[in-house]
Amino acid sequence: MSIQEALQIQREYMQKVRNLVEQSGRVPLALVHTYGCQQNVSDGDKMRGMLAQMGYAFTDEVRKADFILYNTCAVRENAESRVFGNIGALKHEKEVNPNLIIGLCGCMTQQESVVQKIKQSYPQVDIVFGTHALHRLPEFLYTALQDKKVFDRCDDETDIAEGLPVLRTGKWKAWLPIMYGCNNFCTYCIVPYVRGRERSREPEDILQEARSLIQDGYKEITLLGQNVNSYGKTLAQPIRFSQLLQKINAIEGDFRIRFMTSHPKDATHELIDTIAACDKVCKHIHLPVQSGCNRILQAMNRHYTVESYLELAEYARKKIPGVSFTSDIIVGFPGESYEEFQQTLELIKIMRYDALFTFIYSSRPGTKAAMMDDPVPYEEKSRWLQELLDLQRKIGENNYQTYVGKTLQVLADGPSRSGPDYISGRTDTNIIVNFKGSRAQIGQFLPVRITEAFNWALGGEIAK
Ligand code: SAH
Ligand code: SF4
Ligand code: F3S
Repeated sequence: MSIQEALQIQREYMQKVRNLVEQSGRVPLALVHTYGCQQNVSDGDKMRGMLAQMGYAFTDEVRKADFILYNTCAVRENAESRVFGNIGALKHEKEVNPNLIIGLCGCMTQQESVVQKIKQSYPQVDIVFGTHALHRLPEFLYTALQDKKVFDRCDDETDIAEGLPVLRTGKWKAWLPIMYGCNNFCTYCIVPYVRGRERSREPEDILQEARSLIQDGYKEITLLGQNVNSYGKTLAQPIRFSQLLQKINAIEGDFRIRFMTSHPKDATHELIDTIAACDKVCKHIHLPVQSGCNRILQAMNRHYTVESYLELAEYARKKIPGVSFTSDIIVGFPGESYEEFQQTLELIKIMRYDALFTFIYSSRPGTKAAMMDDPVPYEEKSRWLQELLDLQRKIGENNYQTYVGKTLQVLADGPSRSGPDYISGRTDTNIIVNFKGSRAQIGQFLPVRITEAFNWALGGEIAK
């Protein structure tokens, strides 16, 4: 079936659901809850877009919902247990309201073992589908409205990315997927198994979406991919990520460009030069290092060394004044020793990251690392993590202090918890700033003079 045919079928189902909704004489409410990364948030926006076209409105309250859809994440075990817990809790809701339709989708349900577990132990669930079947939500919902269950994981990876309606949650910041899937098979990671092989969108489709976002008033666009640095390699007319950045940077308008994630193995000097040269590209690089030990990096199948990583960072610091780095770290990879973990601390001291996303290794069935010996107990790994967090807190605080006295461009993006006269925003380097301002200023770039630093945010005042 061609993509156009598949889309046409779903449009027909959308109309069918819409007809049912109109016949019912009331507006049904959907609750779409997304777990996991921005890629998943972006998928959730597409499903909300389809639901809106089918006549649904939205709620955050389980009790009010006619349709509950959990868009799940499988990256660590605790992500999965949280979802199982939450659907367990819906059993009661279903008893109270037998017309409630419960759906599960996303990365967790792309795994056959999870689909089987749901079938066996969670009879309250009506619809289960994986990441590759996202565009078929109208068909599944229509089937469930006919009192039928749907279990369709869908192994076909030609998932449909173009032509679906999108209902974005934010008004100023938009997520823009430029590619799907991942080919890297880091040995700990489930993502390539649940998201399929790497596929890039056509640059023209991306540019068109970016232009329309800017026309709609969005001020920040984050380009998404599991490894944006390999963007475009598989297209019929190959194009490099840095070329895409230049094209988006050339769009007229007052906006910022971010991207994630940048895999160190494919991050080049050319990328750094492009960030330096493009005025709209934020001077912030999220460059997940995972570990500061070459043996562990190799066991993780990361394809770079501590030395090559540091060389790249040094080049970036030279070329991009004020560049900020953030990273992801896994503590307690199978077989990691305390001495090897210490090497990660050493790397953190050199890198002086603004922020870190830290995770204790979680075994994912089906991955290579899940078969490796993992002798260090969880409690021990927790202590290592605490050591790392203590170090990073000091580094982060020190980094934040260096912002005091500077005037920075801040994109005001919402009210602040500091009080009714305060608003909040983010610097180019993605740090939260709270400052005195009016709601009318939200959505604007404002020059803010930084007066205070906390360990999680900055405080300031609008510069005259
Ligand atoms: N594609 C991105 C990361 C996606 S997953 C990249 O390569 O950087 C986000 C983060 O979750 C990873 O960077 C890693 O630090 C963490 N992660 C992934 N699998 C994990 C696992 N099995 N256990 C613990 N952390 C994991
Ligand atoms: Fe997972 Fe590695 Fe792919 Fe990132 S690059 S999604 S960590 S396999
Ligand atoms: Fe993202 Fe989790 Fe899937 S991190 S790609 S939602 S497994």
